[in-house]
Amino acid sequence: MEIIVLETYHEISQVAAEIVVRSMQQTEKIVLGLATGSTPVGLYQELVARYKKNEVDFSNAVTFNLDEYVGLEPEHPQSYNSFMEQHLFGEINVPIKQQYIPPSNISNLKEIDRFCLWYEEEIQRHGGIDLQILGIGVDGHIGFNESSSSLQSRTRLTTLARSTIEANAKFFDRQIDVVPKMSITMGVGTIMEAKRCILLANGENKAKAVANAIEGPITASVPASALQMHPNTTILLDASAAKNLKHLEYYKWVYQNKRELETQM
Ligand code: F6R
Repeated sequence: MEIIVLETYHEISQVAAEIVVRSMQQTEKIVLGLATGSTPVGLYQELVARYKKNEVDFSNAVTFNLDEYVGLEPEHPQSYNSFMEQHLFGEINVPIKQQYIPPSNISNLKEIDRFCLWYEEEIQRHGGIDLQILGIGVDGHIGFNESSSSLQSRTRLTTLARSTIEANAKFFDRQIDVVPKMSITMGVGTIMEAKRCILLANGENKAKAVANAIEGPITASVPASALQMHPNTTILLDASAAKNLKHLEYYKWVYQNKRELETQM
């Protein structure tokens, strides 16, 4: 894993955007895996800004979102469909037929299973995910793979942990009772097949999950710890999210050396 610790949220968002833009410039067509929630908002703002300056073109991009709540109308302001429209899709030029995101309004179990299989097939049909953006939950989840998710799990219906419902209540006027309890999420196994992953985390409330994910044992109790086995993952942290890391100085030193090498090239 490459672990990049920078001072601020703004800085990690900028570096993440740079990675996305460079990856897009290296290929004709990119398949992006996208996250929602508060963490990637700065990254998306930067991508929108670069798109508006003609620095990046999304017309050949295909996007697969990680997850969506079950039991909300797609137009609900807090559905991840609405989130994506507001923060990214409404502002850039990814054609709608190239935007894949689970629907929030299917509740029939058979239909959900059919959808999940289809979603996996569509990811394969497009050649797999080239670059997967991730956030991390306070319990160490990625996507909505909560503790106990198999590290080989695939796209499926999951139940949100109490801590996730409490954390996400901030988007629902702090009304815990109206936060959906279930989601459709890509599995940990699905995420692990992405060719590259970038996980962003900021804020002190993520420090424990981040330390467990990076330096703890690989365990289904902390689904993000599976990324220790991923061959090409970059973790971008602000100073607060990094504060519990035992080997923090080493990670900073590695990054500093890499930067020095890059400037010599
Ligand atoms: C959202 C997702 C989740 C979030 C995580 C952190 O698509 O996959 O894993 O990344 O819950 O959420 P925020 O960024 O709101 O702290």
